[in-house]
Amino acid sequence: MNPTHPIETYGRPIILIGLMGCGKTTVGKLISKRTGMPLLDMDSVIEEQVGKSIPEIFAQEGEEHFRTLETALLQYLVDKPSGMPAVISTGGGVVKRPENCKLLRRLGYVVWLNVSVKMLLHRTARANNRPLLQTEDREATLRRLLDQRRYLYATTAHLRMNTTHVEVGEVCRRVCNAAEKYFARHH
Ligand code: S3P
Repeated sequence: MNPTHPIETYGRPIILIGLMGCGKTTVGKLISKRTGMPLLDMDSVIEEQVGKSIPEIFAQEGEEHFRTLETALLQYLVDKPSGMPAVISTGGGVVKRPENCKLLRRLGYVVWLNVSVKMLLHRTARANNRPLLQTEDREATLRRLLDQRRYLYATTAHLRMNTTHVEVGEVCRRVCNAAEKYFARHH
């Protein structure tokens, strides 16, 4: 690993939230590459723990069970802080449970990547690994999800960024700068 810009987070993670397709994984990967902090992708960790893909978990156990797994993972991270700086990308629905929102804010610096529905539609066009988007009218589904969740993202995040037309490197730079300032004030 050859990080170009390690940043001081006092051992706490930067956490990315937002709707499917907003860039959490892409931005998370770039922050990880630039800072040397490992990326923890909550969906991937859950898939590994359970030994099933997200569509399989939704189909066999249901969404509520998946939400319980998300809560358990967040609780684990809060209870057993590794002291390792990290960047965490979350699943888009993690904010649906109020306890998750509290855990996210306790855990680290939470950033909402807010992207227009048109852009989300474009970015999720070829994905078939998102059970909630397997609908007739994906645009209407994304609009409904954003309407239901906008308030939750906005109130959970320490930083709200509209990244619709912002290039990923620039998003990464802004997130890291803001996180460093926040951690310097709150460690
Ligand atoms: C979901 C988003 C997905 C995944 C699951 C449910 C949601 O993650 O957790 O399919 O409720 O918005 P991404 O946002 O990484 O696609």
